[in-house]
Amino acid sequence: MQTLNDIRSTFLSYFDKQGHAVVPSSPLVPRNDPTLMFANSGMVQFKNLFTGVETRDYKRATTAQKCVRAGGKHNDLDNVGYTARHHTFFEMLGNFSFGDYFKADAIRFAWELITRDLGIDKNRLYVTVYHTDEEAAEIWKKIGVPQDRIIRIATNDNFWMMGPTGPCGPCTEIFYDHGDHIWGGPPGSPEEDGDRFVEIWNLVFMQYEQFEDGTRRDLAAQSIDTGMGIERVAALLQGTNDNYATDLMRNLIEASADATSTDPDGPGKTHHRVIADHLRSTSFLMADGVMPSNDGRGYVLRRIMRRAMRHAHLLGAKDPLMHQLVPALVRQMGAAYPELGQAQSMIEQTLLQEETRFRQTLDRGLKLLDDELAGLAEGADLPGAAAFKLYDTYGFPLDLTQDALREKGRAVDTDGFDAAMAEQKAKARAAWAGSGEAADASIWFDLADKHGATDFLGYDTEIAEGVVLAIVEDGKEIDALTSDSPAWVIFNQTPFYAESGGQVADHGYVRVLEGTHEASETRFLGQVSDVQKRGDGLFAHYVSAEAGTLKAGDAIQLEVMHARRTSIRANHSATHLLHEALREALGDHVAQRGSLNAEDRLRFDFSHTQALSQEELDRVETDVNRYIRQNAPVDTRIMTPDDARALGAQALFGEKYGDEVRVVSMGRKDGSGKGTDGDTYSLELCGGTHVRQAGDIGAFVTLSDSASSAGVRRIEALTGAAAMSYLRTQDHRLAEVALDLKAQPADVPDRVRGLLEERRSLANEVAQLRRELAMSGGSGTAAPEARDVAGIPFIAQVLSGVTGKDLPALVDQFKDKIGSGAVLLIADTGDKAAVAAGVTQDLTDKLSAVDIVKSVVVELGGKGGGGRPDMAQGGARDVANADAAIAAAEQVLKG
Ligand code: ALA
Repeated sequence: MQTLNDIRSTFLSYFDKQGHAVVPSSPLVPRNDPTLMFANSGMVQFKNLFTGVETRDYKRATTAQKCVRAGGKHNDLDNVGYTARHHTFFEMLGNFSFGDYFKADAIRFAWELITRDLGIDKNRLYVTVYHTDEEAAEIWKKIGVPQDRIIRIATNDNFWMMGPTGPCGPCTEIFYDHGDHIWGGPPGSPEEDGDRFVEIWNLVFMQYEQFEDGTRRDLAAQSIDTGMGIERVAALLQGTNDNYATDLMRNLIEASADATSTDPDGPGKTHHRVIADHLRSTSFLMADGVMPSNDGRGYVLRRIMRRAMRHAHLLGAKDPLMHQLVPALVRQMGAAYPELGQAQSMIEQTLLQEETRFRQTLDRGLKLLDDELAGLAEGADLPGAAAFKLYDTYGFPLDLTQDALREKGRAVDTDGFDAAMAEQKAKARAAWAGSGEAADASIWFDLADKHGATDFLGYDTEIAEGVVLAIVEDGKEIDALTSDSPAWVIFNQTPFYAESGGQVADHGYVRVLEGTHEASETRFLGQVSDVQKRGDGLFAHYVSAEAGTLKAGDAIQLEVMHARRTSIRANHSATHLLHEALREALGDHVAQRGSLNAEDRLRFDFSHTQALSQEELDRVETDVNRYIRQNAPVDTRIMTPDDARALGAQALFGEKYGDEVRVVSMGRKDGSGKGTDGDTYSLELCGGTHVRQAGDIGAFVTLSDSASSAGVRRIEALTGAAAMSYLRTQDHRLAEVALDLKAQPADVPDRVRGLLEERRSLANEVAQLRRELAMSGGSGTAAPEARDVAGIPFIAQVLSGVTGKDLPALVDQFKDKIGSGAVLLIADTGDKAAVAAGVTQDLTDKLSAVDIVKSVVVELGGKGGGGRPDMAQGGARDVANADAAIAAAEQVLKG
């Protein structure tokens, strides 16, 4: 038997031998297509190669591409489980030529591969060609396909377009006839919808590019894009027309039957098929970074999960089922898609959490559904209000309700459902409008209603394409953004992180895609310098145009500045490690009170009452660096706030969380909820962007610890290159000092201590000398002599080179010298003046030093002065009026 894995290898190695690069599947979330929810064919990752916008070092490629068709235009979700050939997830095998070979080789390769390498019976094959494509018909004829098996088709079935615009061209399709035991007719016949003739391979001759205005232009180079459905080929090679009977799907179905102790082919057959299919799409989507949520891609994922979970419930599964089947899927597909095995534990845990949570409301929801149906007329639709209640209260996506009704031959009044949804939104808005927020913000809610939430791709990519949905300036929507003035722009999806949770917004570029504007127009180029969350889930980008004009509907490329994001990421992850290290060093009372994760530094505010000792700071810094070197992986998961808290996640106190949270963990965990072997284990609720491995942070250096507010400390720190450059600067400064000291850097502290000691004793010496100098009359002047003023010996002197502090000791020395009398010293300290006066004890009953100082200070432009009758001091502006001041003092002596 040729297994599905065999067929994939045969296909890829055939084209490898024909000179094709074997290229890995691109992720399910397209990086380069703004309009596509999920990759839905092999050519998606090569789109820009066909139009010539991009070139690579190969001109031939082959892939096995993961595809999901469960949202948007190609939506097969509703049919899965009920037909033999519908899947939400499938693999498309393809070969591609970018301006290299064309029709003849493409057809020859295909024929050789299926009839020779895969050994499919020629006599069961039919081909179709586009009705005007004589060239292709001729090639098929030469290869030996009989005329009556070359069918010309005039419809779009044989003209392939990836979408309303983009590369396109006629195609030829290969059909397999399962035999007349199955009803159906060849393509183009009235019975073509039957299952007998099955399309197995589509070869597209990429020849044109289609533009928005409906015109078509020849592509510079003719190219090939093909797609073969591996599940269908496996079916026919394994002698069945049922994709679910092939080896891979059968193994998954048996895993589901085993886990539920049910018969894989019994009454629960449909349930097993749904489960097998949905297991693949949900697991692969999560492996590619999609997480269940209530918006966009995440909601499509959740809808598929819940649909599968209801079928598990219908099988009578007593416990959550889906996560138990992941190992079987990894066994089947992990070798071809390593990302699946890498994400296995995250997938299992997410499925378990989602299913545990959903089962809490599933029973009650199904009961409500039964009650509603019991009250309805035979065959009547379920009222929209009831479907909405199931959605809103019990978490039943609309298509899950529809799926449940399908078994009963009923439908939902979807108009009623939409109306109920609109009413709820209007109510939420009215409540919000009453809350007194700025009125001009209403535009954001209008835009969010109209366009839905912005899909954030930035956890997985820094570059993505998007479509401009609206441009807003001063609270009003405008038609175009030009270099005249910057404005806020909304895109349908974005890799830009909007400022939140202490993490600053990403900066970067917006540019119009090559080839979408006529050559004569200036292509748009703009800078994004801020991103803010607005309305209900919108990301508003503050864009300044540098060239060209940007309009709603433009397809653009958004690119985050990588280096800046890298630094922010490192700083953010480091705050988590810092938080953990602080709790370890200081105790469990440490809780985050705020943070800033910017490009150039990080700041972390936390509850703690005292300054950290040097020892504590050292320990924290050492621990953070040790965690970094442990290089543990950083993991993110989505769960309910309660589950997160049960796991021990650090949540921000007082913060409101929605019904689900993103949990970021770093490090390896043992059963105790702590790290293993002294490893860190940090677990926090966080929406930010993080490094993949702790080692990516590089290094961590604390700059300061300070008080932020009462009971809150603040640590500022650097990481990565900034930390290294800070250390280097410190080092250079030390080296400079060492050079000046003519010492080794290691000897600098001792030398500096020695110098400071020396400086202190020199300063003392200088002060002493100054006093001595003053006593002896200063430089060059005679030592002051006492004169007689009203019978009192009086020394009055202006001194320089001494400070106010020196004066009392000098006054005492002069007092001793004269034995009885008064002393006035005025020090010129450069920018100010200081005054001191003394009166010997025998005279203090009739003369006070305080009076002398006060009279002097006034003359010198000061105020006040005070002390005791025998010794007083004061400060003044300057010594300019010293003579007048001394005269004033003499007046005091004279009484
Ligand atoms: N891109 C082509 C398809 O999806 C091959 O059918």
